[in-house]
Amino acid sequence: MSKYIRVLGIESSCDDTAVSIIDSNLQIISNVIISQKNEHEIFQGVVPEIAARSHMKNLKKAMEVALSQAKMNIKELDVISATCGPGLIGGVIVGAMFAKTIASVLAKPFIAVNHLEGHALTARLTNQIEYPYLLLLASGGHCQYVAVLALGKYKILGQTLDDAMGEAFDKVAKMMNLGFPGGPEIEKKALLGDENRFLFPLPMIDRKNCDMSFSGLKTAVRLTIERLPNFSEQDICDVAASFQKAISNIIYKKTKYAINEYEKVAIGRNLVVAGGVAANSVLRSTLELVSQEYLYNFVAPPIKLCTDNAAMIAFVGLERFNAGIIDDVSFKPRAQWSLEDL
Ligand code: KG4
Ligand code: ZN
Repeated sequence: MSKYIRVLGIESSCDDTAVSIIDSNLQIISNVIISQKNEHEIFQGVVPEIAARSHMKNLKKAMEVALSQAKMNIKELDVISATCGPGLIGGVIVGAMFAKTIASVLAKPFIAVNHLEGHALTARLTNQIEYPYLLLLASGGHCQYVAVLALGKYKILGQTLDDAMGEAFDKVAKMMNLGFPGGPEIEKKALLGDENRFLFPLPMIDRKNCDMSFSGLKTAVRLTIERLPNFSEQDICDVAASFQKAISNIIYKKTKYAINEYEKVAIGRNLVVAGGVAANSVLRSTLELVSQEYLYNFVAPPIKLCTDNAAMIAFVGLERFNAGIIDDVSFKPRAQWSLEDL
């Protein structure tokens, strides 16, 4: 049996300052998230410089709360891991430097984590599923179907050629002044809307692969809004519902193509969703439906572990540490870092 260890994870790649401690029994001992939502809301998007400065301000506090939740002294940490990309580089550097300093002072191993790998492996932390599996990673910055073959071994089967799915939700929400991030607001408004009122286009739906495009859909939504004479509350709800239905139709079809591609490279019948948009219940039920049709097991981690968090970063730290992979503190943070480059 391997030694009991506790791993620190730090996440600062976007607008959430997150610190978590997990242990080698996969218990999440602490999971602290300080949201910067209020600071970015007036800009209706994340302002990189504000984000970096806020991470600097929030990290110490988040660390103190994480240690007190865990009832631990910092010296009891065994492994220190932090997101080192991809993401808004200012924030990534702040979090990575914070973690590297702790690792250096305590003389503990440092692990540079790819944020996307954090999302990709969350279902192993929460549901203990085995490799390989098919993953739809849908966040504010990424939207891709990935064959998760083993730790550090990923094949991107298809991806968006323009906007990420979360980005499309955020931009459509912005058109209707629904605040930021827009995804949860669209979902709420859609509950009160008629999803059949507007027939939005489904870009690239006829291409027999799992690449996607959301930019044309977003433009169609904008044109529809501009043409409505008096943009009422009911119009907002109907646009939100019709937009969400278009996303669902795209994902229904593209997931089938993704399964075909996945089965060329792997055997294993789990379909997993991750990333912030995985919180969306319509997306979840669409994936559940495809899973049933193809006799796959659908796995969706709890919502609070789908959006950005540091438990997923600590988990990658644990998996990599167990595999004997340790990084030097000279590791350079990266704004771009594909899962295929691990
Ligand atoms: O993974 P995440 O927390 O941060 C990134 O790494 O990007 O994802 C954030 C994205 C945002 O675009 C947000 O609008 C979207 O996830 N999102 C949602 C929902 N909750 C969050 N989109 C649709 N429906 C939701 N319920
Ligand atoms: Zn993310």
